[in-house]
Amino acid sequence: MHLKILVTAGDGIGPEVTYQAVSVLKEIAALGGHDFRFEEKRIGGVAIVQDGAPLPKDTLDAALASDAVLLGAVGGNEFNALPPDKRPEAGLLQIRAALGGFANLRPAFAFRELAVNSPLKAEIVEGADILFVRELLGGLYFGQPRAWDKTKNQAFNTMVYTRDEVARVARIAFELAQKRRKKLTSVDKANVLEVSQLWRATVNEVATEFPSVTVEHQYVDAMAMHLMNQPRAYDVVLTENLFGDILSDESAVITGSLGMLPSATIGGKVNLYEPVHGSAPDIAGKGLANPLGAILTGALILRHSGGLEAEAAAVEASVRKVLEQGFRTPDLARGQTQGLTVLSTKEMGAKVCETAKEQLLAASR
Ligand code: IPM
Ligand code: MG
Repeated sequence: MHLKILVTAGDGIGPEVTYQAVSVLKEIAALGGHDFRFEEKRIGGVAIVQDGAPLPKDTLDAALASDAVLLGAVGGNEFNALPPDKRPEAGLLQIRAALGGFANLRPAFAFRELAVNSPLKAEIVEGADILFVRELLGGLYFGQPRAWDKTKNQAFNTMVYTRDEVARVARIAFELAQKRRKKLTSVDKANVLEVSQLWRATVNEVATEFPSVTVEHQYVDAMAMHLMNQPRAYDVVLTENLFGDILSDESAVITGSLGMLPSATIGGKVNLYEPVHGSAPDIAGKGLANPLGAILTGALILRHSGGLEAEAAAVEASVRKVLEQGFRTPDLARGQTQGLTVLSTKEMGAKVCETAKEQLLAASR
């Protein structure tokens, strides 16, 4: 298998976690005789400082010429005063739009070992396994018109979706639900918003193509509560861009840490892979960051761009094994270190590499 992977590590903890994911991918390639080529380009705050734009043309061209893009994180406090279109985040939104992936898959899987880490009761989170499918190219993030009119002291954004934009992401969500526990929960605000009424009607239309999948609809406010009360009740959760942004961060509470969540954006020209967490400038460069979200994101590259399901599963199993053995990054140890070994970002990456190697060698024997 040949894969050309563009690495855009970005800002804050982006580089340190991304390099651990790259190490794991290199290990997998070496073991399986795969040809993975890595190239690195700038995005976000580092690109603003060095190239004068959050998404330099050079980065965009390299992204479009690759098979997969692995992004770390973007953002930093020094850019907080800039308008949205000049900030590091604009680089991320521009690359998402250019690559064209509209279905952002955000699996939230509650590892048993991390149940104590959740502020929720262990019996509520244990066994939770949700796949959020967040529409990534529409809604308030991209809707026109948008502006802050300072003369009128007024600002506005537009939440807009076409039927086709909803249908294409719904179809992907239904296909994934078909391969999982066959339940799809669509989240909207159809009691208030026309855009949500179109969303709901379209999801119901697409549902007729997937008779084996059970569909339910939830309002986003109620869903925010249900997710905390009964996370195990959900399988695939389909929602629009902003609601998906909010609910996927909320689901970090179920998994024990935002540092555990990976994502893959599919459906466009080139798939884009990014952990759900941000650049965490407060802990950047200290070796405190959790690389497991980035490493699990690497597993999604193997699965969705490489078609290497066994290797993807081996990486996920290695993460589980390392947790079982009591290894933790500081965010996963939170106060209770008894029986646990707290590792730095690099040490955790190396542990997963080593374990993945053992797993794959054992499987091939
Ligand atoms: C995410 C992030 C981004 C988003 C930001 C950094 C633009 O919060 O990927 O969830 O809002 O989509
Ligand atoms: Mg977010």
